[in-house]
Amino acid sequence: MSAQIIYGKQISDTIREELLHEVEQLKQQGVTPGLVVILVGEDPASQVYVRNKAKACEQLGYHSEVIRVPAETTQDELLALITKYNEQQNIHGILVQLPLPKHIEEKAIIDAISVEKDVDGFHPESVGNLMIGDDALLPCTPSGVIELLKRTGNSPAGKHAVVIGRSNIVGKPVAMLLLRENATVTICHSRTPNISEIARQADILVVGVGVPKLVKKDWVKPGAVVIDVGVNRLLDGKLCGDVDYDDVLDVAGWITPVPGGVGPMTITMLMANTLKSAKKARG
Ligand code: GUN
Repeated sequence: MSAQIIYGKQISDTIREELLHEVEQLKQQGVTPGLVVILVGEDPASQVYVRNKAKACEQLGYHSEVIRVPAETTQDELLALITKYNEQQNIHGILVQLPLPKHIEEKAIIDAISVEKDVDGFHPESVGNLMIGDDALLPCTPSGVIELLKRTGNSPAGKHAVVIGRSNIVGKPVAMLLLRENATVTICHSRTPNISEIARQADILVVGVGVPKLVKKDWVKPGAVVIDVGVNRLLDGKLCGDVDYDDVLDVAGWITPVPGGVGPMTITMLMANTLKSAKKARG
């Protein structure tokens, strides 16, 4: 039997409609959510992401600012820009598009963003809050994964979730969120022996390692939910995930496609974080 496909675009559209209602209510109370996106340099992929973020803001009626500065911008200049937006009342979210040019220390920039406006959820205090279960702005892609699971009736509670990958922006926070949702969580990585055997025990398998088509059908328990966070560009220009989609399709119970699975959720969760931050600022 073929897996049910998890269409992230549809779920993302539904969430955006829900957000729109909340935004209208907030606006009636005199507050418009505001997001600033800062892009340093002219990386083509980053330019596309930044445009899409601005478009989402427009669609939901947010106040949005896109600040493009040259690749030669110094770290101090960028820090000064962040200080300005930390203090600016009509801005509730600050996102500095990564990667940054090599002469700028990423950590110094992330640390400088006010934790209240850290809509990426990358600040150490946000990470700490996630870890101890306090209220926090959650990183967008990981919280998108949880939304996909819940909104397809695949609640993680009581399930064995296996996460392949241990990055700070996907693997670790996804594992922590799954734990918070009462899953039993195993994290695998490049030094884990017998990954395929462990993966095959998963009720929920989340993969984010950046290796095209790594996960084959013999890695997947029949009926498992397979969430593919990978986005890889093949030599022919096509996108593919970390899961060999065609191979796994007949074994999995549910599967996300690439593109069109997890991807559309990231910006939607960014919009949700900005709204949450705006509501909190209102008090
Ligand atoms: N570059 C690629 N993805 C992201 C993201 O989620 N946040 C930021 N700030 N930069 C990125």
